[in-house]
Amino acid sequence: MTSSSSSAVEKNNSKEYLTKGILLIAIILISSVFLFLYNYRDSEYTRKTLKLEGSLSTGVGLFKMNCVGCHGITARGLVGPDLHAVTERLSDSQIIKQVTKGLTPPMPSFEIEPQNMSDLLTYLHTLN
Ligand code: HEC
Repeated sequence: MTSSSSSAVEKNNSKEYLTKGILLIAIILISSVFLFLYNYRDSEYTRKTLKLEGSLSTGVGLFKMNCVGCHGITARGLVGPDLHAVTERLSDSQIIKQVTKGLTPPMPSFEIEPQNMSDLLTYLHTLN
């Protein structure tokens, strides 16, 4: 009698573990899907940007509107660092990340179209 009731408890317990296990696996699966989509969308953006031909004059205009407040009118640095030869220090995809991600406050993240990002890159490449 005692043994049968304890095995019922064990059964219940193992059922509970099974449910928790399945739940955990489901959560891990769902999070990996989100993580994958998030990274995929990122690399899509970068790939798209790198394929485009940037316009220097638009890039200069965008820089004046969005970046000179911190990087200075000649990009020699103010609050933010001097951006001359930044394209030698950082790869294009690192610069894209820097501009769009907001990972280094106080520099904000910019939501810009790949074409405009490409224009900015073209300008940054002229700063030697
Ligand atoms: C609110 C101020 C601010 C604005 C606006 C800003 N930045 Fe920055 N930026 C910074 C600061 C501060 C850093 C240094 C971050 C760090 O390394 O911790 C930085 C770093 C960078 C870097 C990396 C430099 C290096 O040597 O590692 C690049 C490239 C850059 N900014 C480009 C831009 C561009 C392009 C724009 C305009 C679209 C822009 N920033 C607008 C403040 C700003």
